Amino acid sequence: MNRTLQNIVVLTSGGDAPGMNAAIRAVVRTACYHGLQVYGSKAGYQGLVDQTLIPLGPESVANCIQYGGTILKADRCSAFYESDIRARCRQFLKEKKIDGMIVIGGNGSLMGATLLAEEGGPAVIGIPGTIDNDVPGTEYTIGFDTARNTALLAIDKIRDTASSHNHHFLVEVMGRNTGFLAVDVGIAGGAEVILIPELDIPIDVLAKKLLEPKRRKFSSIMVIAEGHQPGRSIALAAQLKAFTHEQYRVCILGHTQRGGSPTTLDRLMASQMGFLAVTGLLEGKTRHITAVNQGTVTLVNFPNTQHKTRLFTDVALLKCNDILCL
Ligand code: F6P
Repeated sequence: MNRTLQNIVVLTSGGDAPGMNAAIRAVVRTACYHGLQVYGSKAGYQGLVDQTLIPLGPESVANCIQYGGTILKADRCSAFYESDIRARCRQFLKEKKIDGMIVIGGNGSLMGATLLAEEGGPAVIGIPGTIDNDVPGTEYTIGFDTARNTALLAIDKIRDTASSHNHHFLVEVMGRNTGFLAVDVGIAGGAEVILIPELDIPIDVLAKKLLEPKRRKFSSIMVIAEGHQPGRSIALAAQLKAFTHEQYRVCILGHTQRGGSPTTLDRLMASQMGFLAVTGLLEGKTRHITAVNQGTVTLVNFPNTQHKTRLFTDVALLKCNDILCL
């Protein structure tokens, strides 16, 4: 145990994700148990830029485990990418005698933490928190399970209408440049087609697939990942109509997928990750993230910065869906 560690900061950065509160709670309570003083930085790195920290005690995280969003608020702080701003933040943290920091967020947020540590800032442990599940080094990120359950509920409801009216639907889900959400909810929702950025299908090939189905279906659901162009399903529906002369109704699930009460899995992972992040700092670790590998929560080195995003590669899983949706 690192007995010199005394003051730590916790923050939630980037897009919010259900389960972040459970992670904050675990960080604060574990740190207090070990006699550390914890501070929160509001709205991610913005609290450091504004030089305001709020002291957090065990009572400040009471009754938050069941809520989505983040009690610390979250933001994408572009100023933190500037080295002189980071230098000011480092100086501020030094003056406040902060020797450890826990950053809960996605790829950009974890990258900010690495930079701060590399440039001589406090020891840093990251907790991957994003509905996209795209952080390298871990098979799981906090919020992913809640988001996929939220999207699945919506798809089940759309299926009722699609089937009653003989309609075809395109349902667009989040996930940024990755297809993890789309694949999971597509398979679980019985989607006839799943489109992800990692394995894009040219429009003519897709149209051919729709025109020559193995079995004629009067209604269908295509789950499409937003990719680099949120809202892209509107243009795709128009293109498909031109090829197939069928109408494709569009439903973009958008930010509904980011909120809501976290599932058991998200709360469980977040609690373990928060606990492990503090014990990691106490053991003298820095530039690590909490990660799930083969079902176990561990600490691993910060991912190689060359590979900023984890991509979906399980082609066999997609092939399996081609058979299941016959
Ligand atoms: O990274 C989480 C995420 O919800 C992505 O899936 C999505 O592309 C993006 O954030 C949306 O960001 P914003 O809320 O800033 O529009």
